Amino acid sequence: MANQKPTTSHSTSRAPAAAKSAGGATTTTTKATNVAATKKVSGTTRSRARNSSSSPTPTANPEELKALMLSCERFLNGHGRRSVDTHLAQIPTDTEMDIYGRGGVVAELESEVATLLGAEAALFEVSGTMAQQAALRVHADRRVTRSVVFHPACHLDIYEERAYERLHHLVGVTPTSMMSPLTSADLANVKEPVAALVVELPQRELGGTLPTWDDLVDQVAWAHERGAAAHLDGARLWEAAPYYERSAGKSIADVVSLFDTAYVSFYKGLGGISGCCVVGDQQTIDELALWRARHGGRLFGMWPLAASSLSVLRQRKDNFAAYGAHARAIADALKGLSHLEILPTPPETNMMHWRVTGEREQVLERMRALARDDKVWMFAAPYAVEGPRTQRFEFNVGDATMDFSPQEIRDLVEKIVAP
Ligand SMILES: Cc1ncc(COP(=O)(O)O)c(C=O)c1O
Repeated sequence: MANQKPTTSHSTSRAPAAAKSAGGATTTTTKATNVAATKKVSGTTRSRARNSSSSPTPTANPEELKALMLSCERFLNGHGRRSVDTHLAQIPTDTEMDIYGRGGVVAELESEVATLLGAEAALFEVSGTMAQQAALRVHADRRVTRSVVFHPACHLDIYEERAYERLHHLVGVTPTSMMSPLTSADLANVKEPVAALVVELPQRELGGTLPTWDDLVDQVAWAHERGAAAHLDGARLWEAAPYYERSAGKSIADVVSLFDTAYVSFYKGLGGISGCCVVGDQQTIDELALWRARHGGRLFGMWPLAASSLSVLRQRKDNFAAYGAHARAIADALKGLSHLEILPTPPETNMMHWRVTGEREQVLERMRALARDDKVWMFAAPYAVEGPRTQRFEFNVGDATMDFSPQEIRDLVEKIVAP
């Protein structure tokens, strides 16, 4: 066992309420406010986020809001507006169909992803929710404990109705507090046997933070030293990859090679319709395929989602270094604006969170005015309401953002954060 430091008690910060939109997508929906409840697990205090029905209702009528968005000529966030025609254009008409996930474009995608990530095998799944639960189930079934370690903002813990507990009888252990990134030092707070460690790269709820390469290596080594599996929640791994290239000369395949299983998504920064792959060794992937069927995820025809995934993968996987550089230039240009905090500073990926001081309706009305007057669409709703005068917006640099210079974005944001 590695050295363990005494268990520290972590104060449980309020769970951030999240607008559950795909990174880069423009959305008009408002996510229910999350409230945190705390519970003692394995000597550590963990923070739980649950949906409450007290979600703030937007004053603007949703139909009017949609019409306003459609009247805009430019979109600041991500790749712009998602629409049926852009999504259908991601499915070539000569796509080869699969049958129950076998053959056709599903096999082509799996093979391309496995090669790209340097893995033995890949499995296409229609949701990361299903895929990650199954991966942890497989890891736990091979071990004597059901405990899985993750950050308190882990998607499995706060957005999946606790299915990992209900369906798979797994127990979550959170060694750090909600607003701190997970580090190898935090893992010493875990005082029990562990089946798997989940590492999310980047940590979305914190605006897209990443551990250094050396710390990542230490986290995974910690898991392996105690016989636990290491699983990568790489929902936004394409977005994270340039950071490791830049800071440590490591490729995306080098990152994946540290882990026993890794999940990557095709509809967040890549902009596909839905779907993901899990990569790992052949035996693990074969076992995951059983769980895909048990979860009801072996659809008769998976080709529309797989074809869209393959198209956007080829189209955008190499763009993230440029998106990330633009994100850093934008954050630099926004420096000094009052009533605005950028998390993290500087951005480590193409994502950042803007913490804006101001009342929700006032801030949103300013964004609507921007849409009416400048024909620029910013956001319909905050990602999180952190208090009566603190709104958090998730900003992802994508194709649509590349159309704006950093100075132009500063001029737009200045209108939103004016006192
Ligand atoms: C970090 C993270 N992990 C997992 C998921 C689950 O992905 P899916 O929507 O495909 O179920 C998401 C979705 O937003 C996510 O952000």
